[in-house]
Amino acid sequence: MNSAGWTSLVLWSACFIALSCGTVRYQPEQIHLSYGEKERSIVITWSTGNETDSVVKYGGGGQLLQTKTGSSTLFVDGGQQKASQYIHRVTLYYEDPDSLQPETKYFYHVGSDRGWSAVYWFVTPPEKLNDWAPSIAIYGDMGNVNAQSLPRLQAETQAGVYDAIIHVGDFAYNMDDYEGQVGDEFMRQIETIAAYVPYMTTVGNHESAYNFSHYRARFSMPGPYENMFFSFNMGPIHFISFSTEYYYYLHYGFKMLVKQYEWLENDLKEASHPANRTVRPWIITLGHRPMYCSNKDDDDCTQIKNRLRYGITPLRLFALEDLFYKYGVDLEVWAHEHSYERMWPLHNYTVYNGSYDRPYTNPEAPVHIVVGSAGCQERVDHFNPLPHWSAFRSSDYGYSRIKVHNATHLNLQQVSDDLDGEIIDDWWLVKEMPRIRFPLAEKMMEDDHLPSSRSRRDDFSNNSLPPVVQIR
Ligand SMILES: [Fe+2]
Repeated sequence: MNSAGWTSLVLWSACFIALSCGTVRYQPEQIHLSYGEKERSIVITWSTGNETDSVVKYGGGGQLLQTKTGSSTLFVDGGQQKASQYIHRVTLYYEDPDSLQPETKYFYHVGSDRGWSAVYWFVTPPEKLNDWAPSIAIYGDMGNVNAQSLPRLQAETQAGVYDAIIHVGDFAYNMDDYEGQVGDEFMRQIETIAAYVPYMTTVGNHESAYNFSHYRARFSMPGPYENMFFSFNMGPIHFISFSTEYYYYLHYGFKMLVKQYEWLENDLKEASHPANRTVRPWIITLGHRPMYCSNKDDDDCTQIKNRLRYGITPLRLFALEDLFYKYGVDLEVWAHEHSYERMWPLHNYTVYNGSYDRPYTNPEAPVHIVVGSAGCQERVDHFNPLPHWSAFRSSDYGYSRIKVHNATHLNLQQVSDDLDGEIIDDWWLVKEMPRIRFPLAEKMMEDDHLPSSRSRRDDFSNNSLPPVVQIR
């Protein structure tokens, strides 16, 4: 090589080193919305590789004339490379001067003087929240690979079909994989829906790495418990999201399981107080692993002594079925099984239909559904023969819709993505009379007939089905 050749090689090498060493990541990405601490408040969350200011510019009518600043935290992945990113949060309140107005379409972008995102939009709820009839898409178990339902959800969300989306655990498969790159790419995928409506979450088993650090860091749910358990209101609904994983990852410690159970009881007590129940008559719980399922596998939901339902043996600690029944939970939404399943109104393996002709009108027990078929690389789950407590099942990829019409009528649909968006299950949960508690709950309270009582503990001592099935 002559001297000119050596010179150009040196220059090229220096240039390459400068480019690779000098890469910056100021550009905002992974933008998503959630409901904040105060009802109506909106939290906007995003990531940058380098530290920047945290600014949202927003406004009605397409003009971004309002500005709100927030803060960022450094998140470091637990892998070998210790990949890092700054996670930014800005909260928009209705109480702020000249801030959000009801029933208004706001446009916004996020970033700093070092780089701005594209412009997105969201719509605020009406002034009278009691009269709001929100539409929600709800599913679990959506991965980076084979996220089959996502394109349909993108089209519907950007067409304004939903007011919020709820993801009931198991994200990305897994957010920590490849030094966190799978999590980053998944968050970019869901930006196409989560930047337009609040994307509310529940933790699942696929988030367990590094003590759930990716899940705790990346999302911005209300409350002090780092997204692991919290509640929020949407018009006439009180949603309660909690961790089923505390029951299974006991090596991370018992303390948070105890804390969560206490918090759950207090939250349910408050939500079911007559004054609150009148304003928000619907209580819906969100947990990842189901109490009941009829899938052809050995998962805990196929077992009578399921930890969530029955409690942790031998003392039946922190059992949830009686707790949820006692406080009159209307609907319990689960995922984890990669299928859709709707149960009859159910308590303690006994069916409590409202009547023979109208099983979901004035039911006398909570209704459970499993909605874990959004799409992931583990594909779908299939079923055992139909048990007496299961009403409808499907292994199609898809997701559910919840539409709360008012204090008495709630509509649920299951969309099959395999069948090009066909609605394969469409049913109504109806409460014709105001109901605070289910019939047996009064007796439960009088007798302290809770999970620790000897009679209930003995019900399934042989791990067999109870003999009495009450189908009304
Ligand atoms: Fe799962």
